[in-house]
Amino acid sequence: MNKGPRPHPAASPPTSPASGEVKSWGFSTRALHVGQGPDPATGAVVQPIHMATTFAQQGVGKHKGFEYSRTGNPTRNALEECLAALEDARHCLAFASGLGAETTLLLMLSPGDHVVYMEDVYGGTFRLFDKVLKRYGLTFSAVDASDLDAVEKSVTPQTKMVWLESPTNPLLRVVDIDAVSEVAHSHGALVCVDNTFATPYLQQPLHLGADLVVHSSTKYIGGHSDVVGGSIMTNSDELEKQLRFHQNAVGAVPSPFDCWLLLRGVKTLALRVERQSENAMELASALQRNKAVKRVFYPGLDSHPNRAVAARQMRMFGGMVSFEVADEPAAFRTLERLKIFALAESLGAVESLAEHPARMTHASIPAAERERAGVGNGLIRLSVGVEDVADLIADLEYALT
Ligand SMILES: Cc1ncc(COP(=O)(O)O)c(C=O)c1O
Repeated sequence: MNKGPRPHPAASPPTSPASGEVKSWGFSTRALHVGQGPDPATGAVVQPIHMATTFAQQGVGKHKGFEYSRTGNPTRNALEECLAALEDARHCLAFASGLGAETTLLLMLSPGDHVVYMEDVYGGTFRLFDKVLKRYGLTFSAVDASDLDAVEKSVTPQTKMVWLESPTNPLLRVVDIDAVSEVAHSHGALVCVDNTFATPYLQQPLHLGADLVVHSSTKYIGGHSDVVGGSIMTNSDELEKQLRFHQNAVGAVPSPFDCWLLLRGVKTLALRVERQSENAMELASALQRNKAVKRVFYPGLDSHPNRAVAARQMRMFGGMVSFEVADEPAAFRTLERLKIFALAESLGAVESLAEHPARMTHASIPAAERERAGVGNGLIRLSVGVEDVADLIADLEYALT
């Protein structure tokens, strides 16, 4: 299935929307400088927040690229350029939330179209499929995407898209994006990868065969728990055209201030994710040694069934760790005794968070479906922050006693 090694994200040639010089820039240089040069009018080194809803035209239909802020806004453009460069994509479109991005993307499909999705997707994605888009005539099938035969068997002549998350939320399963893309493409289906957990720093699905990438920018891209946003990246000019049409027609666009916050956050993405990945690796190893812990889910552990795939397609293993304790009361007790980890939904920010997927982030998935996917009542999900790892380990060890 695999077409052999592809360029590692770090070594891949950028297809940046900005100047030729950008092509040789590394990830952090792009994060700081693409879309964000000094303001030509004032020299300000930080991108201005353009709050204008409308833009004066020099004649009817003659303007400087902006007419109305739902259709296009200079601060949003700067963010879109920067995020495209980070995913090494030709195009990026920014949205008001991750789910706003997903909805807009799926509205490109038509009644009767079929989507195959990875069974362990984010609960809100499942809810969007199951409770909203089904009512508009789309059909969905869940599959264990680590089983290529199962993916192949679930594809029908109506299948237009295969939807993946890797690593998944909350069980940190890893899917071979390259291999699944090959199966999907042989049936003419597009592949969309939710890259929220991995971030463009650790994994670039467009280099692994995917056609579309979505992010909840609320998470690692923003990185400070202070802005909700979403994004879609693609290399296809045709998909970009359709997405731009839908972005404007549906209207789930982010505010200029939110775009500015995301631009500010993304500058430190590589620094944060490196520290979070290092902390997560140490924490996962400490949890594995703890007698109160039944099982640890982390792609960097030797015990992870897809560690080899993760090592091939990711730069490091990320900042998310899940683990199982005896049962729901034990999980609740542990969560309530944590002092540094905040008991909260969301993930990817500088501060560490802990949560109970079955009762919190994944409560919208029916219990039977949840159990089939392996999300049990004793499961705890951690979003590991950039604190001192010894303090994080001590916090968890105390909570587990
Ligand atoms: C993997 C993943 N995808 C998508 C979303 C939805 O994003 P948002 O909350 O920004 O709408 C989330 C939110 O938690 C998520 O974890």
